[in-house]
Amino acid sequence: MIKVAPSILSADYVNLQKDIEKVDQGGAEYLHIDIMDGSFVPSISFGPGFVKAIRPITKMVLDVHLMVQNPEHIIPAFIDAGADIIGVQVEATQHIHRALQIIKNGGVKAEVVINPGTPVEMIKPVLHMVDQVLVMTVNPGFGGQKFLPETVEKIAELNQLKKDHGYDFDIEIDGGVNDQTVVDCYKAGATVAVAGSYVYGADDPVARINAIKNATK
Ligand code: DX5
Ligand code: ZN
Repeated sequence: MIKVAPSILSADYVNLQKDIEKVDQGGAEYLHIDIMDGSFVPSISFGPGFVKAIRPITKMVLDVHLMVQNPEHIIPAFIDAGADIIGVQVEATQHIHRALQIIKNGGVKAEVVINPGTPVEMIKPVLHMVDQVLVMTVNPGFGGQKFLPETVEKIAELNQLKKDHGYDFDIEIDGGVNDQTVVDCYKAGATVAVAGSYVYGADDPVARINAIKNATK
């Protein structure tokens, strides 16, 4: 069964605590927090203060996805804020190895993220040092986009690399995930599913979490 990471990008910001408690009690393992800088992606979302405010209200794994240019400058602030996992986009820095080192040295789990147009080849040199790889299944920047099926073969490729080298990172998927699109990803080796609009766009977010889990039994 896949782990579920609701993305609060699609939550109700005015009733955020309620929306977080709902998915926490509903069995979600991670809470996915999208950080957008208006440069790497067109949108602007949250900063480290937001993560700091959420930290005391949940024990869920805080899974912070940085869609930020030159993330190494802001990583320490997210470590201090209480993130459990910090993800950096390989396309956003000339120093992916250094960025991942900064995260790990801060005692936080390190994740590398690849866009749909980026091959797995780009991250091979850092796979030995990551705790999680995020395969973007849409182009980053917005919730509610359509899943791109051509990304599934990259999940399979990563899963094969895990077997060949004895790596034990999680493989996370993000974008357009629902109880249908998750199935092939799970079969290919995905272990964590981010879902924003599918979970928070429903009257009953917990039913949606369960639907994803039941589709990957
Ligand atoms: C997109 C973000 C996602 C987003 C997913 O740039 O990285 O985490 O919240 O939203 P859905 O699940 O609606 O595609
Ligand atoms: Zn995300």
